[in-house]
Amino acid sequence: MKKLAIYPGSFDPITNGHIDILERGCKIFDKVIVAILHNPDKAALFTVEERIAMLEISLNKFKNIEIDTFDGLLVDYAVKKNADAILRGMRAVSDFEYEFQMALMNRRLNRDIQTVFLITGLRWIFTSSSIIKEAARFGGNIDGMAPEVVCKKLKEKFDLTPPST
Ligand code: COA
Repeated sequence: MKKLAIYPGSFDPITNGHIDILERGCKIFDKVIVAILHNPDKAALFTVEERIAMLEISLNKFKNIEIDTFDGLLVDYAVKKNADAILRGMRAVSDFEYEFQMALMNRRLNRDIQTVFLITGLRWIFTSSSIIKEAARFGGNIDGMAPEVVCKKLKEKFDLTPPST
């Protein structure tokens, strides 16, 4: 039986920390769906379309990944997709309480969907989309923290790209 996992998040934008989780998740599961949440509570820098485009470029080396969007409850989406598990990364102790709460709530809502946690690679333990966006906004060097396309798009967003001659 093929095993399918959903890797949900805002991905505003995707970082190398997310890719690290995906690289390892893809070795455990036959297929991983990267699912962008349409989240009206979180003000996003990039539109969902822009996020999809960056994901497509950043993840094109993976053969067993699909990109999708969802709204509503994550477990309902997981059932719709026939998924076996929700894949989440755990960066530090500070992530634990929120992730624990969410995993337990999801289990209460649907006992058939398991949450699988992977510990984030040490290099990415301090990263988040917000911190990368903040550094980029003020012209900080974020190379190597996010895929190239993301670094480029952030520079464009904040209008830091040198004008072409
Ligand atoms: N490396 C680097 N950064 C990481 C990371 C990793 N491995 N894993 C997470 N992050 C960062 C993200 O970049 C994000 O940063 P930001 O807050 O600066 O944007 C932050 O951690 C939060 O992660 P993210 O996964 O994007 O969003 P979230 O924690 O808000 O969770 C869902 C999103 C989709 C899992 C959750 O909101 C959800 O399931 N919603 C649907 C409704 C639902 O079913 N709720 C649960 C039961 S009621």
